[in-house]
Amino acid sequence: MFYLPEFNGSVAHWILAVYLVSSPMFFVSEATGSMSFGYSKFADRKKARALPSRLGMFIIYFPAVFAFWLPAIGRDAPIPGWHALAGALMSAHFAKRCLEVLFVHRYSGVMNLGSVAMICTLYTTVSGLMGWIAFHEIDATVLSSGDFTPKLRLGLVVWGLGTAINFWHHRILANLRKPGETGYVLPKRGLFRFVACPHYLGEIIAWWGYSIVFCHVGAAIASLAMTFYLAGRAHNTVKWYRERLGDQVPKGWRRLVPFVY
Ligand SMILES: NC(=O)c1ccc[n+]([C@@H]2O[C@H](COP(=O)([O-])OP(=O)(O)OC[C@H]3O[C@@H](n4cnc5c(N)ncnc54)[C@H](OP(=O)(O)O)[C@@H]3O)[C@@H](O)[C@H]2O)c1
Repeated sequence: MFYLPEFNGSVAHWILAVYLVSSPMFFVSEATGSMSFGYSKFADRKKARALPSRLGMFIIYFPAVFAFWLPAIGRDAPIPGWHALAGALMSAHFAKRCLEVLFVHRYSGVMNLGSVAMICTLYTTVSGLMGWIAFHEIDATVLSSGDFTPKLRLGLVVWGLGTAINFWHHRILANLRKPGETGYVLPKRGLFRFVACPHYLGEIIAWWGYSIVFCHVGAAIASLAMTFYLAGRAHNTVKWYRERLGDQVPKGWRRLVPFVY
């Protein structure tokens, strides 16, 4: 399903190896809260070094809109269709997040500065890494080889479905607060009837859709790392709701996947 090049010791391959090995640690650190990234419900509001959430969130996403294209700088040849699609999807994903940060979400707090720096680096690296892989490892020979069989339609449908689920639930969350309100209430609409984090589920589906389009194992590794991360954060989110809103939390409310997890 995914094109798997031989490990060649390049920086890109080492980064992928580190992502792969550290994925379960993302889960554990978020699920236990031992090293949760400091934003939204899990921000440390007493820390002096923090930015307003909207600004911090915008900073983490904005460079990733463009990072995919950096490895193409200086290239003389025209950009082939597959590369253009892979780049456009990556830019669209992060541009959507920037626009949601600016115009959809209603934030109540801060984002700790260390988390801004770390998450910004992670997203920029993922976007740039996919660009590097695209422009350095996927040439016409690879594109037409039997090992590399892009399933563009399937990937686009999965990506679109995940993105729509994600956006839908961001709107539901935003509508929980009137302008200026900062409290937390239990979300009940959409898939929130069944799970605490359907927006994370949408994000995960979108990343796997991207991986199907991208076809190279690098995108699958990035998606795996994000799946672990968001599954861990969803676990801690249910715990957070139970501790704060106890009786209101429905019995059998799951974290991410209705009736399953
Ligand atoms: N690819 C990845 O690895 C990754 C990782 C994390 C996030 N993301 C993306 O970022 C999106 C947002 O993630 P997030 O962790 O910031 O989500 P979140 O904690 O659920 O917050 C999203 C927004 O909803 C508000 N909110 C959350 N629960 C609320 C409640 N019970 N009542 C009222 N308002 C509430 C938050 O306000 P406050 O800020 O005031 O809490 C924030 O404005 C995800 O859906 C995903 O698309 C991607």
